[in-house]
Order: sequence, then C-alpha cells, then structure tokens
Amino acid sequence: KSVADLGDLTGKRVLIRCDFNVPLDAEKNITDDGRIRAALPTLTQLREAGARIVIMAHLGRPKGEANPKYSLAPVAARLGELLGTDVHLAADVVGESAQATVAALSDGEVALLENVRYEPAEESKDEAARAELAAKYAAFGDVFVSDGFGVVHRKQASVYDVAKLLPNAAGSLVAKEVSILKALTENPERPYAVVLGGAKVADKLSVIDNLLKVADTLVIGGGMLFTFLAAQGKGIGKSLVDEGNLETCRNYLAEAEAAGKRILLPVDVRVADGMDFGAREVFGPVDVVSVDAIPADKMGLDIGPESEVLFADAIKAAKTVFWNGPMGVFEIKELAEGTAAVAKALTEVDGLSVVGGGDSAAAVRTLGHSDDEFGHISTGGGASLEFLEGKELPGISVLEENN
Ligand code: 3PG
Repeated sequence: KSVADLGDLTGKRVLIRCDFNVPLDAEKNITDDGRIRAALPTLTQLREAGARIVIMAHLGRPKGEANPKYSLAPVAARLGELLGTDVHLAADVVGESAQATVAALSDGEVALLENVRYEPAEESKDEAARAELAAKYAAFGDVFVSDGFGVVHRKQASVYDVAKLLPNAAGSLVAKEVSILKALTENPERPYAVVLGGAKVADKLSVIDNLLKVADTLVIGGGMLFTFLAAQGKGIGKSLVDEGNLETCRNYLAEAEAAGKRILLPVDVRVADGMDFGAREVFGPVDVVSVDAIPADKMGLDIGPESEVLFADAIKAAKTVFWNGPMGVFEIKELAEGTAAVAKALTEVDGLSVVGGGDSAAAVRTLGHSDDEFGHISTGGGASLEFLEGKELPGISVLEENN
C-alpha cells in the first residue's frame, strides 16, 4: 500500500518511521543531509494532505540510554529548514514531553520524537518488551507509514512491531528504493562487482556469505580488510581486527575460490601511529606500506595507491557495481584517497553503478561528486546489502503481512 491508499488524511495523526541517521562532525553539524532530503517527498505529501505528522527516528547507537550526544536536535533544525516549518522536537521518546508534543499538533504540523534508541526496548530481542513499546508509539498515530529505508532490515519496535498495530503503508522513499534495487537482484548485467568497506565490521562480514552467491567479484576495503589480512596470516600491527571472525574469513576465501569468484583484497595500505576515531584525529605521519610489511606499531587506515588502481580496474571492468562503505577514514584528507579512487571508478562504470549507505553517500558528496554521476545513491547501507543478499527485510514484509 502507498500513502494514497490510506484515504483522507486531513486531521489524522500519521506516525512515520524515517532514517535520519546522518553523519555529524565534532560540533554536531550535519556533514551530509542526504537522508533528511530523501524523506522530504513523503513528508511534504503528508503535510499537503493536512496530516499531523509524528516522526520516529534514531541517530547512532545510544544503546537504550538517553544521551545528549545522540540527540536528534540537529536533525530537527535541519528538517525544519528544508520543510520551511518548525519541527517540534520532543524531549523524550514516549514520555510526557512526547505526549504533549503530539497532542499539540495542528493539521500539517510536524513533531519529531527524540532518538527512539534511548528506549531500551526499541532494539530488544524480547518481543514482549518491543510490543509494549510499540503500543506506546502506536498511541501517537491513526496510521503508520514506513519510510526509513535505511532501517527496514532491523526488527525493531519503531520499524517492525508498530506496523502490526496500525493501518500501514510504505512511503515513497521505501517504494523507490525497492524498485531501483530490484534491478540488482533480478538478472543483473555481469560481471557484477560488490565493493565493501566501512566501519561496521561485524555487520559487513555477516553479509559476505550471501553476496558471494550473487556477485562475481567482491572488493574488500575499509575496517574489515585487516581481518581478512590477519586470516591470511599477515601481520596487521595495531589495525582494527575482529578476532572472532578469522576462521569465517578463511572460509570465505576458500568458498570464493571453489566457486570461481574473486575476493579482491588490497596489496598496499596507508598506515599511521594511531587514530582517535571520535575526534577524527590521526597520530603521526601517514605512510604507504605493502600488506606483507605492516609494522607492528602502525595502524592501517586506508588502502594504498597500488590498490586504488587494482580496485578501480575491477570496478570499471564490471557492468553492475554496488558499493557500500568507505575504503578509509575519508573525513581526513590524507586518508580519503582510497575512497576517492573507488568513487571516481564508479562514475566511469559502463553500466549500472549504485552507492549505498549513509557514509558512502556522504563520502561521494564530500569528495565533490554530484548524485547524477551514479546510477542510484541508496539511503540504505545494511538495508540495501541485505536486500541484495536476497534476504527478507522485516520492516517491509511486516507491511505486506498486516495490510
Ligand atoms: C544505517 O546507518 O545504516 C541505518 O541508519 C541503520 O543503523 P544501524 O546499523 O545502527 O542499525
């Protein structure tokens, strides 16, 4: 169902899940507002229909505790500017402030609940706890619209459980993303390359299995590359590693070889003495070293120049490319080269190129590319990867089941 199928929305309270998980700098400035802009068509449609809009969203991973570091205040301000109206930010998620904010809404007005992940039950594995929280959300709406594509792979109270409690519909962003990403799952033109990077190492490692079934080449950069190097028995110095997944990586490499697929790893990397990821500060000079000679006291933070050429060639040889996750710490100029090389290669693909995820989208824009240089920029990172894997996305299947 689409929003139009929900009937006359004049004066109705529309509870909507958006994905406003945007990158912020140390001063809490939004460095890429792409996910907020992507929500505008549905929000505008609802305002024009005279609905009273109650938005649920998350920012980062506050792990069930209210924490000003993860407040949606910067999002409320930016959304207000883009919509040209005040966005009333509640001070809590389902407490007194939220209740008063929702009750005070007039037709066409917009409220934003505080970060839903302040509530411990939001991401709980305990279904009863999630259902209880979802009932509180549902009390804020007459209907529910799911438009946070970036979060539809999460079985969480504001994404999944709430949809069971209200008449629901998919927003136009979710509908658009699904229709475009289908081109990558239904008969993609080959060779098909998937480029993976980014910092959510455990999440990314868990998708490789299924991606190996659909793609011809997997190009690996970003945080997880060092776990692969360690799995091959190489020294990785102080680089990020997921010790629990070394065996998994070895299996992936063997599986790929047996299936005639390619897992492409870098041959050189950029290293420094260390890094404060929160403050985005790199320690010591940045050097290039071979992956066979990473010094014990250095931390790998980007792919190196030879790998840039290797990766760019593999990308340009493909007819379908999906890229999720920066190659290095692209926010720092000296560590943006790998990501820049991948982004440029994607713009030169003779076929369909898709960029997915908040960080990758932010990276291409920060690096000066415009959205129309790519086939599609998806707002979903993990969500688009799971879609490509052919997995059922709980936030979408729940809509179909409860209509
Ligand atoms: C994302 O950034 O991919 C989405 O907002 C989901 O965030 P999560 O990985 O913390 O669930």
